[in-house]
Amino acid sequence: MTRKLFVTTALPYANAPFHIGHMMEYIQADTWVRFQRMRGNEVRFVCADDAHGAPIMIAAEKAGLTPQAFVAQIAAGRARYLEGFHIGFDNWHSTDAPENHRLAQDIYRALRANELIETRTIEQFFDPDKGMFLPDRFIKGECPRCGARDQYGDNCEVCGAVYQPTELKNPYSALSGATPELRSSEHFFFRLSDPRCVEYLENWTQDGRLQPEVANKVREWFTRDEDGRVSLGDWDISRDAPYFGIEIPDAPGKYFYVWLDAPIGYLASLKNLCSRLGVDVDAYLAQPELEQVHFIGKDIVTFHTLFWPAMLHFSGRKAPDRVWVHGHLTVSGEKMSKSRGTGISPLRYLELGMDAQWLRYYIAAKLNAHVEDLDFNPDDFVARVNADLVGKYVNIASRAAGFIAKRFGGRLSADVGVEGRMVLDALRAQAEPIAQLYEGREFGKALREIMLLADRVNEYVDAHKPWEIARQPDREAALHDVCTTCIEAFRLLTLYLKPVLPELAARVEAFLKVEPLQWADAARTLGAHTIGAFAHLMQRVDAKLMDALFEPAAPAQEALEAAAAAAAATPGGEALAPQIGIDDFAKVDLRLARIVAAERVEGSSKLLRLTLDAGEGRTRNVFSGIAAAFAPADLVGRTTVLVANLAPRKMKFGISEGMVLAASHADAKAQPGLFLLEPWPAAAPGLRVR
Ligand code: 2FM
Ligand code: ZN
Repeated sequence: MTRKLFVTTALPYANAPFHIGHMMEYIQADTWVRFQRMRGNEVRFVCADDAHGAPIMIAAEKAGLTPQAFVAQIAAGRARYLEGFHIGFDNWHSTDAPENHRLAQDIYRALRANELIETRTIEQFFDPDKGMFLPDRFIKGECPRCGARDQYGDNCEVCGAVYQPTELKNPYSALSGATPELRSSEHFFFRLSDPRCVEYLENWTQDGRLQPEVANKVREWFTRDEDGRVSLGDWDISRDAPYFGIEIPDAPGKYFYVWLDAPIGYLASLKNLCSRLGVDVDAYLAQPELEQVHFIGKDIVTFHTLFWPAMLHFSGRKAPDRVWVHGHLTVSGEKMSKSRGTGISPLRYLELGMDAQWLRYYIAAKLNAHVEDLDFNPDDFVARVNADLVGKYVNIASRAAGFIAKRFGGRLSADVGVEGRMVLDALRAQAEPIAQLYEGREFGKALREIMLLADRVNEYVDAHKPWEIARQPDREAALHDVCTTCIEAFRLLTLYLKPVLPELAARVEAFLKVEPLQWADAARTLGAHTIGAFAHLMQRVDAKLMDALFEPAAPAQEALEAAAAAAAATPGGEALAPQIGIDDFAKVDLRLARIVAAERVEGSSKLLRLTLDAGEGRTRNVFSGIAAAFAPADLVGRTTVLVANLAPRKMKFGISEGMVLAASHADAKAQPGLFLLEPWPAAAPGLRVR
C-alpha cells in the first residue's frame, strides 16, 4: 500500500545563513524522503524560516531594517544552498506568513476553549532604556555561585551553575548596558500540568514512537513524587511588546513566544503547499493513514515531544507520528557554535566547485538511527569519497562501458551466463535488506552494504579481466557477458545509491537510457537493451580542495567582519554627521511634490529643470543635478521629496525654489547609482515628511 508521509526538518532561525549543521539535517531528511518516493510512497516535504522572536527583532534593529525586511533578506539566500546540495523540499515558507498567524491564533483559541490557558503575573527584568522586557540571554551579570563576571541570565559558563536571571549579582542589560528593573507583567501559560496533558504526553512519549534513547530521557519528566504526582511545569507562551511575533487574540500588546508559533509553521508551510497544489489541507491531514514525521536535532527535543504534541492534540489536531532526533555535527572533533556554525561554510564548499554529492555521501555514510554526534574529518572525507564512490562504484561503469559501445554498438547481451547471473542475483538479493536500512535511517549501514556489493562486482571484473578477453578474438561472447554484467550491476548499485546521490543517478539514467529508477526496478533486468555513451560521472576529491575549504575560512570570516565593522562606521561611504536635536530637524520642511515637467537645461550637462507641484496651488521651478542619472521623460508623473523651505537660490539658468532629495554613495565613482526618493503609492503632493 502506498504510504502517505508529511515530512519536515526543523525550521531554521532567519537570522543567519545556513551552516553545515543545517545541511546535515537536510541531507538526512532529503535522503529518507527520496528513498520513500522511490518506494512509490507519496511524500510532502516542507520547511520554512523561523522568523520571530526577540533575537531576530534586535538583530534587525542593529542592521537598520524592519524585522520583515531582515528575514526576507535571509530567506532570499536560501535557494542557493538548497539547490546546491540537491535538497528537494516541496515548499519553503515563513512563520511570519499569514497562514501561520491564522493557525497559531486558531490553535490558541482551541486550547483556551479547552481550559488549558491561564494567565499569571510574573516578575521579569525590564530594560528602562530600551523600554522592553529582556529575554534571559540579554541579561548579564555576576554568577551568584562563583562570582564570575559577564555571565548570561540562565547559567554560568565558568562554574556551570543554573539559576534565574533575578539571582544574578549586579545585572545589566546586554542591549543597552542599563541596570534592569524588576517589573511585573501578565503572562499566558499553557497548562501542561493539567492531568489530561500529563496522561496524554506520558503515553505519547512512551508508546514506542520515539527512539529508545529519546523516550528514556523524556521519561524523566514523568517521575512521580511520594503522592504519585507528576509535576510537568506550565509553559509560558507569551511575550510583551515590543516583540516580533504573532499577536495573542484578545490580549493587546501580548505576542506568542516564538517557540509557540515555530512548529505551527510546519502546518503553515504544508497549507501553503496544498493551496498551490489545489489540495484541501484539512482533508489531507485527516487521512487516517497519514504519517507526520519531524526530523530535528537533539537540542530541541523538549519542544517537539512535550509542547508540540500537546498543542496539536488538545486543539483537536493530529499529533506527530515520529520525531526523529539526530546528534550534532562536529568538525575535526570541535563543537559548532549554533549561530556561527563551524569552520566549514557550505557556500564556500560550493564556490570551490566541490561536488555536493561528496558531502551527501560522506554525511550519509556517517549517519545512523541514533542520537549520536557525527564528526566531519577532512582526511576521512577525502579517503571515503575517493575509495568508495570513485574507486569502487564509478569505476565499474568506466571499466565496461567502452567495450559495450565500441564492440557491441551499445547493445547489452540478452543473458549473462552463470557467473554473471550469480553476481547480479547477489546484488538483487540485497534490495530489501538495503531498503530496510534506509527505512530505519541506518544510512551508514546501507552504504556499507552497497560498497560490499561493489567490492563483489569489482572482484568479478578482476577475475574475468575484460581488458584481456578483449584481445582474444574468439571470446566476443564472454566479453559481452562480463561487460553486460558490469553495466547491470552498475544500474543496481546506482538504484541503491540514488536516495543519496540523486543528481548522479539522473545522469546514469540518461547514460543507460532508462526511466527514473524506482526501488521495484531492482527486480528487473535490462536484457538486450541499448545504452548511451558513457560520460564522465564523478571526479576524485583533490586533497588540496580541503585545504582551501578550511584555510581561508577563518581569515575570510575576519575580513568579512572587519568589512562589516568598517561599513557600520561609514555607511554609504561616509561617517554620520554630528548629532542634532529634534528641533534642528523640525526646521527642515520636507514636502511631497509631484514632478509635473522635467527638461534638460541648455548649457548644462548636469542639471535638469523640474516643475514641481507641492500642493500649494502653484508650481515651483527647481534645478536638480540629476541629469546624468535620469532621462526627463522617466521622471514626469513621479512624486518625490522636496526641501520646501530652502531659501530660493539664484542660478545661472534661473531661480531654484527648493531641492529634491536623492540617495547616493559618498564615492560615486566607486559605487555609482543615484536613487530618487519616492513615497508609497497614493501619497498626495503637499504632505509633510516628518
Ligand atoms: O532551534 C532552532 O533553530 C529553531 N528555529 C527550530 C524550530 S523547529 C520548529 F519548531 F519550528
Ligand atoms: Zn559561576
